[in-house]
Amino acid sequence: MDFTSTLQKIFVEEKDIPAEFLLPSQIHQREYLSNGEMVPWNGQVHEVFSPICIKTENGLERKLIGSYPICTEAEAQQSLDAAVAAYNNGRGEWPTMGVAERIHCVEQFTGKMIEQKDLIVKLIMWEIGKSFADSTKEFDRTVEYIYATIDSLKNLDRDSSGFDIVDGIAAQVRRSPLGVVLCMGPFNYPLNETFTTLIPALIMGNTILFKPPKFGTLLHYPLQEAFRDCFPKGVVNVIYGRGNAIVPGLMHSGKINVLTLIGSSKVANELKKSHPKVNRLRAVLGLDAKNAAIVTSHADISLSVKEIITGSLSFNGQRCTALKIVWVHRSVADEFLRQFNAAVGQLKYGMPWEKGVSLTPLPETNKIEYLNECISDAIANGAEIVNENGGTSAASFFYPAVVYPVNSKMKLYHEEQFGPIVPVVPFDDLEETIEFLIESTHGQQVSIFSDNADEIASLIDPLVNQVSRVNVNTQCQRGPDVFPFTGRKDSAEGTLSVADAIRAFSIRSLVAFKMNETNKQVINEIVHKDSSNFLSTKFIF
Ligand code: G3H
Repeated sequence: MDFTSTLQKIFVEEKDIPAEFLLPSQIHQREYLSNGEMVPWNGQVHEVFSPICIKTENGLERKLIGSYPICTEAEAQQSLDAAVAAYNNGRGEWPTMGVAERIHCVEQFTGKMIEQKDLIVKLIMWEIGKSFADSTKEFDRTVEYIYATIDSLKNLDRDSSGFDIVDGIAAQVRRSPLGVVLCMGPFNYPLNETFTTLIPALIMGNTILFKPPKFGTLLHYPLQEAFRDCFPKGVVNVIYGRGNAIVPGLMHSGKINVLTLIGSSKVANELKKSHPKVNRLRAVLGLDAKNAAIVTSHADISLSVKEIITGSLSFNGQRCTALKIVWVHRSVADEFLRQFNAAVGQLKYGMPWEKGVSLTPLPETNKIEYLNECISDAIANGAEIVNENGGTSAASFFYPAVVYPVNSKMKLYHEEQFGPIVPVVPFDDLEETIEFLIESTHGQQVSIFSDNADEIASLIDPLVNQVSRVNVNTQCQRGPDVFPFTGRKDSAEGTLSVADAIRAFSIRSLVAFKMNETNKQVINEIVHKDSSNFLSTKFIF
């Protein structure tokens, strides 16, 4: 049997899907949260087809799992008006609420979110094809992130609950919200990466316009009533519609104060430019990346292989932090490829609910065409697929291709393939790898593999000034979430981490006064009567 037929067999008939992984029913969303209400929708809808195909009489077909509204600019503008009204120039209930009360609302929301875990995890799996185990991890990691954010804000608030006195002037310095935040997340971590911006933005007192990603949309539906019930009206609004139809108008309005987007630098740049007053717009962005692994002649090959396999192929390479190009010293290239190809051959492929599965179907409909294009282009420029069955596809599934030797004429050298292709470039001199990183338009992370301390040191110093994280004998990754996650060049703007994110979505404001008797008395009275939420010495335990 040829390998395409083998791959076709990973897809099953409807009746063979294990019952515990099925959605309770198709989800046809006909409402959305705006201005504190679930607004009914009778207009156009987008049908959601899972990357998981089903064996039918007509062959393999993507399974229909539901549909959601395609609203227009008019509805998006109404939601924008709701967010602007809820912010009310910083005088709304939410932006003026005390930190402890805001934390309480987020805790309540998290409780309701946990009640929806089963459905949300299944929706992550069905909408983007992520393995059930990883979908569960994504949910749990998000809940942990919310709790860590709450703790971090409590610490920040405790540190700000006193006064600083310098040169006869006393001040209380706290962080205030920025306004209306337009938040857009990516399809590969549709819950986690969206919430790593949405939750910090929200908890700092901003009001939110949230546009769910193109894939991984329905999973946000079960959370909308929780948002409605836990926050004042208009604080969280979920907008639907084609991004290019509804988002530019929102930016043109000049009423968006923060753009937070995990996606492409091209889209981010265009959106930023459409804001009439760029100086009033803060951007917190996680963008494209082409993280490199550098395997030197002194590397422990089996450890490098282990790390690079996970780094390049977990969730089929669809991570912004994935290793998307592997530089290997020519003297160890054959051995590296031998071990790497064998390790690829060990990865389990199949349906996302299967235990231990690593490789699963891809959500983007035109992805396989693009991956094939990259491979043809590499072959035309002198490379080949060097692993068994590499690049074979069936319906929405693409078996990983290890492509070697890759050079600068190829798409795979420059483009972020965001999928299961591992381009391998041989090198003779480490300087070539440094030059690649200097010339790259990306600057997120790099992984260096070597057991030689001097060699590692000689790479660390130039590379920390090219990227934002140098991983030593370790794959690239975002976590742990308390570490700063950012990038240089076209890879990011601003820094995310539990502690950085709450700073990114707020600005320091202070109340200052000359230390004279009248002022001391007035300030003491405010604090004593607890008459200001901002100027307060209350301590959150
Ligand atoms: O897609 C980018 C994610 O932030 C990657 O997170 O490195 O923990 O998988 P991760």
